This record gives sequence, structure tokens and C-alpha cells, in this order.
Amino acid sequence: MKKLVFAACAAFAIAASAAYEANWESIDSRPVPQWWKDAKFGIFVHWGPYAVPAYAPTGEASVYGCYAEWYHGRLLQGNKNFLAHHAKHYGNAPYANFAAEFKAENFDPAAWATLFKKAGAKYTVLTSKHHDGFALWPSPESAYYNAVALGAGRDLAGAFTSAMKAAGLRSGFYYSLLEYANPYYPKNSLKSQPVRPWTMREWASRVNLPQMKELVENYKADIIWTDGEWDFPDADHLSTDFLAWLYNESSVKDDVVVNDRWGIKCRGRHGGHYTTEYAFEGGDKAGLSAVHPWEECRGIGRSFGYNRFETASDYMSREKCIETLVQIVSAGGNLLLNVGPTADGRIPAIMEDRLLAMGRWLETNGEAIYGTTRWEKADPEAKKNRVYFTQKGDAVYAIVFGATAGGLRLGNLAGAKSATRLGSSEPVAMCTDGDALVVTLAEPVPAESALVFRFQLR
Ligand code: GLC
Repeated sequence: MKKLVFAACAAFAIAASAAYEANWESIDSRPVPQWWKDAKFGIFVHWGPYAVPAYAPTGEASVYGCYAEWYHGRLLQGNKNFLAHHAKHYGNAPYANFAAEFKAENFDPAAWATLFKKAGAKYTVLTSKHHDGFALWPSPESAYYNAVALGAGRDLAGAFTSAMKAAGLRSGFYYSLLEYANPYYPKNSLKSQPVRPWTMREWASRVNLPQMKELVENYKADIIWTDGEWDFPDADHLSTDFLAWLYNESSVKDDVVVNDRWGIKCRGRHGGHYTTEYAFEGGDKAGLSAVHPWEECRGIGRSFGYNRFETASDYMSREKCIETLVQIVSAGGNLLLNVGPTADGRIPAIMEDRLLAMGRWLETNGEAIYGTTRWEKADPEAKKNRVYFTQKGDAVYAIVFGATAGGLRLGNLAGAKSATRLGSSEPVAMCTDGDALVVTLAEPVPAESALVFRFQLR
């Protein structure tokens, strides 16, 4: 009898946990996990054989024109800048030769984790496989084109994930659903066709789904961050089948986070959090939302993959990095800020410098970032004066960049019961003016140290 009851309970538990069906209505009903919504700041890492040439033109008007991780695709498209660069430095060597030069010999994953922690980031996303098809882990579906088989001779994805998790960071993977040059990929860019390419459904079931499952189960990925979805509709990618498996059966089903890149027209509509990409520089804004969780990704410079031809003027200043985070969080988003390590495994010093500056600021002011939401009553004009607002419980935070000394008028805050400045024990001098609070700044706000005021509403 006992056994029977147990069996019945077990069957019920399985049925009860199979909550999601393979359709968008069901998949979209799953809330984005709270840990991610509270985290606000993650580090994106684009790392692969494209770090060997580490080249893209720097002054292109189009956001995408500056992406160094598109090197292989640009050669296949016949882009004249990339072709000229390649011919000059590498003759007619095939792109795949870079895999042997991608050695990662100075890769110290624990040091990366320490840096990302110091930056104040809460999660990381590593390119497990970008559009070039090179896998950073020993995947059976990329058996001869991965980081263990060639170059590094090491499971870079595994080493990365262990170090991040050991440091207390959540960690997951970017995964490209398309490959530029795999002859079996249905829309590959090769001019001559050595084999009959598979249909997208065949490709999804033979390559993408098995690889994403490997990443989930072998590394307990906290995030699956798909990309390269734009060639086919989500039905051909078998996207909802994968997501139903992920949410119902995988070992990370309760906590895993995904984005909205699951097929043509999915961005800003389906999946987990929405995404934007260089949204404020003319890139992709499809995922901007006042109500749905979203995440902006961008480089510190203008590329995701390391571009060694960028100069200091291509990089955001320290202050701009901090302001970008604040701007996004105040609009309800997360920032996934990218670093592009070198082929030998070092994080370029200018990127390190920016991350450390963000961490210094967050150490005092992180209370106004982590676990906050957009403040609905924020005056939309305020950001023109570089004043941004966030909210947590009964507290509203005003984050002030570059203001001159004198009275700072903050709309809709006249009812505040008390005010403090983070990192200071001095009383905040203020008075009310209609529905606004006017805070007196004794000194101008110094560069790189935006001031944060906390107002208690109740
Ligand atoms: C893009 C690009 C790419 C980059 C990415 C990050 O769509 O193709 O190189 O990895 O998105 O969002």
C-alpha cells in the first residue's frame, strides 16, 4: 500500500512539474527569475578564434560594422576592409586556421572572476559558440572544431564556469543558433556547397538542441543566451520544444534565465527577458520595455570581440560606463557589459580599468542599483539633466551626474519623510517647492562620482 501511495505521489509530482507546454502562451507565462531581475549588472565575454586577428574597422557608421567577432562572416561576404586586412596579414589562410592560434595560454579564470566581482557584476555570460561555429567546450557536435581539440587544448567553458561559480557569480552561456560556414547549416555562406545542407529542423535537432542541452547539464548553466536566430522562424528552430524541456525537465529548471532571441520576430515578444543591443548608439531597440524585464548588451568600446585597433577614444570613459548602467537600471533594464579578452587570455587593461571604476562606485552606491525597480513617478525630463531615479520598497533613489553647485529640483518627491546621501553622514540640505524637493548641493558633483540621494517615502 505504502508503495502504491508513493508511486501515485511520484507520478503526480512529475505531472505537476510538467507545467509548461511547447507553445509561446505557455512558455511566456513563466516569470523571469527574481535573482536575475535583482542582479542588474552582468558581464558578457566574447572570446573565440576571432580574438586572433582581433580586427574590425573602427570608424564605421553602422554599429554592426565595428564587430570584430564577425570576422569570418565578413570575409565570406566579401567585405573589402576585412579581405584587405586578411590578405595583408594572413595571405590566403582559411579562417579556421585561427583556431590553432587561439591558445589562451595566459587565461586565469580565477583572476577574471575576481575582476568581475570587484566590478560589482552579479552574473556572467560567455560565448560558448559564436557564429564561426568554434565551440569553447568539447562538444561531440563540433568534435574537430573546439577548444580542447585545437589551440588551447582546454575546456575553456568549463574552466570559466567553475571559476565564476566558485566566486559566487551566476554564470551561463551565449549560444549562436547559426553557423557561418558549417556545410550542414541550411543557410551557410560558403560559395561552393560540399554537401547537401540539412533543413533548419534537422540542424536544430542534430546540433543546436543537443549542444544547448550539453551546456545546461554539463555546466549547470544559469543562463542560456541565444543569438543568430534571424534566419528562420522559431518553429524551425524548435525553440518552444527546447524551452519546455528546459523549464520542465532540466536540472536548472527553476532558476535558469533565457532571452528573446528564438526565431524571426521573437525579439521583444517571446521567451524570457527581452534584449537590446547598442540601443542608444543606433543598434537594436526591439526589447525596450517599461513593463517587461529587459537587458541591454554592448561593449565598453564598439565591438564585442576584442578589436586591437580600437584606441582610447573608442571606449566609454569611466563616468560613461557608470552612467550607462544607471540609465539602463533607471529604465527598468539590466546591463550586460561586454569584455573581449585577447587570444592568449588576458583582459585588456582599458576594460579592466573601466570595470574597476564601476566597482568603486557601486561599492558605495550599489544600494541604489541592486534589487531596485524603475520609479514610475520619475520626471521624464530629469534624465536630460543627468538625474536618474530607482526605487526599492519605500525608498526612492536619485542618482545625480555632473550637476553644478546650488539647488537641484526633484519633481514628485515633496512628500519624502527623510533624505540621506549614500556614503555620507552629513545631513542633506533641502526644502520643498510645490510637489518638488529642492536639494542644495554645496559643491558641484565631481566627475566619476555621481551622487546618490535616498528619500524615504514612508
Ligand atoms: C549580435 C551579433 C553578435 C553579438 C551579439 C550580442 O546579434 O551577431 O556578434 O554576439 O549579437 O548581442
